[in-house]
Amino acid sequence: MTKRILLIVSGGIAAYKSLELVRLLRKRGLAVRAVLTESAEKFVTPLSLGVLTEDHVYGDMFDLKEEREIGHIQLSRQADLVVVAPATANILAKMASGIADDLATTLLLATDKTVLVVPAMNVRMWHHAATQRNIARLHADGVHVMEPDSGEMACGEFGKGRLPDPEAIAGRVEALLARPRADDPLSGQPDFEGPDASLAGRHVLVTAGPTHEPIDPVRYIANRSSGKQGFAIAAAAVRAGARVTLVAGPVHLPTPAGVARVDVQTAREMLAAVEAALPADAAIMVAAVADWRTADASGQKIKKDGLGKPTPLSLVENPDILATLGKHEKRPALLVGFAAETEKVAEHAQSKLTRKGADWIVANDVSGDVMGGERNSVHIISSTGIESWEDLPKDAVASRLIEKVAHALSPRTD
Ligand code: CTP
Repeated sequence: MTKRILLIVSGGIAAYKSLELVRLLRKRGLAVRAVLTESAEKFVTPLSLGVLTEDHVYGDMFDLKEEREIGHIQLSRQADLVVVAPATANILAKMASGIADDLATTLLLATDKTVLVVPAMNVRMWHHAATQRNIARLHADGVHVMEPDSGEMACGEFGKGRLPDPEAIAGRVEALLARPRADDPLSGQPDFEGPDASLAGRHVLVTAGPTHEPIDPVRYIANRSSGKQGFAIAAAAVRAGARVTLVAGPVHLPTPAGVARVDVQTAREMLAAVEAALPADAAIMVAAVADWRTADASGQKIKKDGLGKPTPLSLVENPDILATLGKHEKRPALLVGFAAETEKVAEHAQSKLTRKGADWIVANDVSGDVMGGERNSVHIISSTGIESWEDLPKDAVASRLIEKVAHALSPRTD
């Protein structure tokens, strides 16, 4: 059945990006119904949103005609997910205090559905104690909050507060819709992203990215790993309340908020950083560690010999970090490896599970554009069998995996 999004657009300069968001949500097969606050109408017109949503755009609560056609309570309940994007400091403050003085805020107070807010505002407004207090309150109330991006702002200042890329918002929407209903905060279960989240008090260790193994001072052996999946997993673990250490190979990615990041270059440095970070409750080894390094990296740049005979490279195997943890005296209670395979995905992952002493192997087929791409299609292999997930954005894979980790670590109550 078609999933329905109630999109509330509040009035900031980023409001125009809601049009692109609607387009991306519709492209994913979702139905979108939009509500504009009064100030949002100054930035984006009901007409343009109406054309893109192919639906009526709601604005004024006291429009009696609308109230007769569809009550505001009903409007807030007909959706599968409520998204506020962009969410201004003003609407966040109202939501945090339960103020309902227009249609948008009334719907937000009346809804029984999961709510995702995507803040966008000036950097100083974002860092203001009042906004941060409101964000913490919303987290505690079970509202899902996306972190704003950093960069140059419309007002000319630089910093955190930009609306995340609409593609990332659409990915997060998809991830939330993919979650089982039992995780909905209002269905009596603890919210996965709030402070009572199931990874609160846990230490999660994540490795990500490639390693670079030097050949000489200017050359190295590397691979195509972008680090995106590992970084998304670290961010999801923070959202779930964990203390997160991210050991990252050389990648150009910003550190997710709340993550303790340790940057390394080589496999041996990665192993040392991982061991230094122990003990951990769960370790998720996403890094694409180079299997080999040169036996002795040259101290000087290797020159051509002028005779057309290349200098042979002699390689030695790198330590296997996952396998080392598998038999470590401080082995994490849950040890998860990744397997990048181009063929016989499940079979190879199964043998890696036993060989490396992991609890799960997340296997992905890297014959396509997974490395560096935005989506991933994975199979989770454990001693109890295989679970295959549909093709998902890397953010969604991260959220689901962290949810699974949280369940595995939580004490059984039955
Ligand atoms: N891994 C590791 N240290 C290494 C090599 C791999 O910790 N030196 C981890 C990766 O982080 C990943 C898992 O082992 O979690 C599988 O990595 P992969 O490269 O697919 O496996 P390999 O052992 O290299 O097997 P092969 O190259 O034969 O597929």
